[in-house]
Amino acid sequence: MTRLNGRTALVTGGARGIGRAICEAYAREGAQVAVADLDLTKARDTATAIGGVAVEMDVTDHDQIKTGVAQVEDELGGIDILVNNAGVFNMAPLDEITAQDYRRQYDVNVGGAIFTTQAVVPGMKARGKGGAIINFSSQAGRRGEPNITIYCSTKAAVISVTQCLALELAPHNIRVNAIAPGVVDTPMWDQVDALFAKYENREPGEKKRLVGKYVPLGHMGRPDEIADPCVFLASDDARYITAQTLNVDGGNWMN
Ligand SMILES: NC(=O)c1ccc[n+]([C@@H]2O[C@H](COP(=O)([O-])OP(=O)(O)OC[C@H]3O[C@@H](n4cnc5c(N)ncnc54)[C@H](O)[C@@H]3O)[C@@H](O)[C@H]2O)c1
Repeated sequence: MTRLNGRTALVTGGARGIGRAICEAYAREGAQVAVADLDLTKARDTATAIGGVAVEMDVTDHDQIKTGVAQVEDELGGIDILVNNAGVFNMAPLDEITAQDYRRQYDVNVGGAIFTTQAVVPGMKARGKGGAIINFSSQAGRRGEPNITIYCSTKAAVISVTQCLALELAPHNIRVNAIAPGVVDTPMWDQVDALFAKYENREPGEKKRLVGKYVPLGHMGRPDEIADPCVFLASDDARYITAQTLNVDGGNWMN
């Protein structure tokens, strides 16, 4: 378990869910891990569990991003791996979409990835050792869904951001890829289930049961099933892979 020995990783939204599983997997593979999150208390729990460092970081706050990145570079040395995992979900039919929610989801899901990358890349370039950046898209970015216009479109945008930055940073051997999870059993899905109950008039828990049942591999993803491919993409095993969005969804989407 040494695929990330000697590397330093910054994981946004690392306090819980998929982000926490990535922090655990990276630490297991020998990386020093900075757990960045809005929720500093939970980030500290994760950091303590894995022997990492907690960083308070709202990825919509550009000053906090810069300060957080500088803190990690100070405490752990240069950043080799950035995982732009922080994300938020909401659902609303067209007539209920608000400008505020539009901005919030775009600021976190798209802006968060762009501006955290902007803060981390100068250090990667200066050290001249390349780097690996992993963004979080979704199966929702592959295909639209009714009443999920904002979230789906943010996740489609992440695929494009990944392609553009991969090409821009390729001369520096900084690889940029994305993961597109399907349905993963995390705290986010409790909120998703409640919104489907509201907008599709379902029983609580019903949507979650159904989405799991229809995954070709037969179950909702577990956070560790998303984290392991993130280890691969961050490691030298993926040294010739960039600009890709990898579906990690039990077979839900094919391309
Ligand atoms: N769970 C799924 O089924 C699923 C499917 C596809 C894609 N995804 C994506 O995977 C990523 C992780 O999802 P999850 O299910 O673990 O979510 P989650 O809600 O369980 O955890 C998200 C974490 O991000 C943090 N966060 C939220 N806004 C932030 C901000 N502005 N700055 C910093 N941190 C912030 C939260 O505090 C939390 O710790 C997200 O980008 C999500 O869109 C999830």
